[in-house]
Amino acid sequence: MPNIKTIGVLTAGGDAPGMNACIRAITRVARHHNIRVLGVEHGFSGLIAGDYTELIRSSVSNIIQRGGTILKSARTPEFLEPGPRKKAYDSMRSAGMDGLIVIGGDGTALAGAALCEEFDIPVIGCPGTIDNDLFGTDETIGFDTAVNTALENIDKIRDTADAFERTFYIEVMGRTSGFIALDVGLSCGAEFIAIPENKTRLEDLLKIFKSQRATKRSNMIIVAEGDEEGGAFKLAQKVKDHTGVDYRVAILGHVQRGGSPTARDRILASKLGAAAVDALIAGKSNLMTGEVKGALTFTPLRDAAKRDKPVDALLFELAKILAE
Ligand code: F6P
Repeated sequence: MPNIKTIGVLTAGGDAPGMNACIRAITRVARHHNIRVLGVEHGFSGLIAGDYTELIRSSVSNIIQRGGTILKSARTPEFLEPGPRKKAYDSMRSAGMDGLIVIGGDGTALAGAALCEEFDIPVIGCPGTIDNDLFGTDETIGFDTAVNTALENIDKIRDTADAFERTFYIEVMGRTSGFIALDVGLSCGAEFIAIPENKTRLEDLLKIFKSQRATKRSNMIIVAEGDEEGGAFKLAQKVKDHTGVDYRVAILGHVQRGGSPTARDRILASKLGAAAVDALIAGKSNLMTGEVKGALTFTPLRDAAKRDKPVDALLFELAKILAE
């Protein structure tokens, strides 16, 4: 077993509520094992620049309830090049780092994999993204909070939609995936859900307008930003061209990334952060921690980023039936 004395931790890519709870768990579990923790600021950019600060127990006090990330985040496309990776490795080694934990989404997992495949430094990932699009975990850290934040806002929009008997198209985040849209759509009682995983058939959507307009005059259509129709505005206009039905669009945007994490996200973040430290101590590398059906899992970082994670087809069908 390796003798791990110092580890680094960073957050990268789109921030997600619960990242702070994860940093806290990593710091406190590592300190419990007398391991020094270096917080790397600004993701992989800070790893290259040697932007490190020691985290002690009190550095992570009063953050479990906070959204965002105390370590800041960044997208660092240059990390795909070998030169910057070598620079990062050299700076990690000169700071005495024996291992690294990266918290983020698919880009973060791939960057972590590239680093530990090329150099003798173990890397473990924790899945942190509101999109929930990582293979090897039922939910990613931040997903539950994002769904609840979106829902809270959509319930408010439903009130005004109802008052004016209007049709609203609400665009939620999820660059290439419909996890947020599906959960939000079912939970808010949407009349239609458009997600990139399932081709949006305009005829199906038009049918809904024909059958429901007579009895129910407010409609909520949830559109994932990555939907192939090109987002809420385009879809809304297409329907208007066919039906003449006027619409309003609300793009929820980055509000979904902020806010205090739900209890479920704080617990998941704490468990997966702790598991990441244990994994480094046990000599593991190039793996992402996750939870599947309540059990702790480890998935190769490249699989976590690249393997297909399908949305729940039964849930999608149920949402359709409930909207009939
Ligand atoms: O990956 C998380 C995410 O919030 C996506 O849902 C969204 O497409 C993207 O990040 C937005 O990124 P940025 O904040 O860089 O505009």
